Amino acid sequence: TKAPVRVTVTGAAGQIGYSLLFRIASGEMLGKDQPVILQLLEITPSLPALKGVVMELEDCAFPLLAGVVQTDDPNIAFKDTNYALLVGARPRSKGMERKDLLEANGAIFTVQGRALNDVAARDVKVLVVGNPANTNALIAMNSAPDLPRQNFTAMLRLDHNRALSQLATRTGKAVTEIEKMIVWGNHSPTMYPDIRFCSVAGQNAVGLVNDEAWYRDTYIPTVGKRGAAIIEARGLSSAASAANAAIDHMRDWALGTNGKWVTMGVCSDGSYGIPEGIIYGMPVTCAGGKWELVKGLEIDAFSREKMDATLQELTEERDGVKHLLGK
Ligand code: NAI
Repeated sequence: TKAPVRVTVTGAAGQIGYSLLFRIASGEMLGKDQPVILQLLEITPSLPALKGVVMELEDCAFPLLAGVVQTDDPNIAFKDTNYALLVGARPRSKGMERKDLLEANGAIFTVQGRALNDVAARDVKVLVVGNPANTNALIAMNSAPDLPRQNFTAMLRLDHNRALSQLATRTGKAVTEIEKMIVWGNHSPTMYPDIRFCSVAGQNAVGLVNDEAWYRDTYIPTVGKRGAAIIEARGLSSAASAANAAIDHMRDWALGTNGKWVTMGVCSDGSYGIPEGIIYGMPVTCAGGKWELVKGLEIDAFSREKMDATLQELTEERDGVKHLLGK
């Protein structure tokens, strides 16, 4: 049997945590032969609630769960960790300005980035889920100068999965028949789901759909505003689907995609006109525990406009936290 790996989840007593932990412990993320030690981080007032969640984990008697750590100390939570899912973030409360939100999250992600830098495994895979996910990942990455930048990613997978599902519904095909989906940019309504390279059951998606107006005026906004639509319908933000996307993201990164494209928020190397150092949703393939950018795609005028708009938003977010980016 394999030696256990360490998986840190922050915000573990929250909504997403409640959908996520049980699936990690059951082997859905890293495989049914990979034991895991869960290292769970919460803020001090939520430790009692976390204890309840851990009691439920115990009650599942998961064969792969080799240990659970509960703490409010990032240096304990990230100690020797191999996989870090940064879910906990400060939600926007009433009357809170965007600037205050960036500031509050800046404080969280500088501290967690430093802790990762100091105590995590050197090949730790970090996924930032907590919003604003791209900018929080940027802050954590910049707070961890001793770790490779490729170790830091933000979650665009929920957007990617939403884009797949909406296209499958429209074309009457199965999601498994769709390849080469891309969602460019920020995890926000400005994201750009790009179906130009998609094939659906072997046919080009653009030709199959054959309805430019639907693509521009219905599909793109439906995918972009899906989070708000869930809140409207459920009275709560998406949690099970967000947890599912986090599982997909980490599983693909760790175990590989066999050539299939997936979307990850990654640190740009300057490709596609996205400035170096920005965390941006990009098409990648994964193999051998590493992600690799899909290169050489043609960017047409419509795509350029969309990609620049979501970049503009990310640049503004970055400028808002510039004082936290060090150097
Ligand atoms: P939640 O409010 O139910 O849970 C968040 C948990 O994080 C709480 O238990 C809280 O105590 C904890 N927390 C806050 N600050 C912390 C810190 N400094 N260290 C450790 N824990 C901390 O929220 P939910 O629904 O679980 O969502 C979590 C985050 O994920 C939110 O920021 C949400 O906007 C984001 N999200 C991102 C998505 C994406 O696609 N990237 C999709 C859906 C949600």
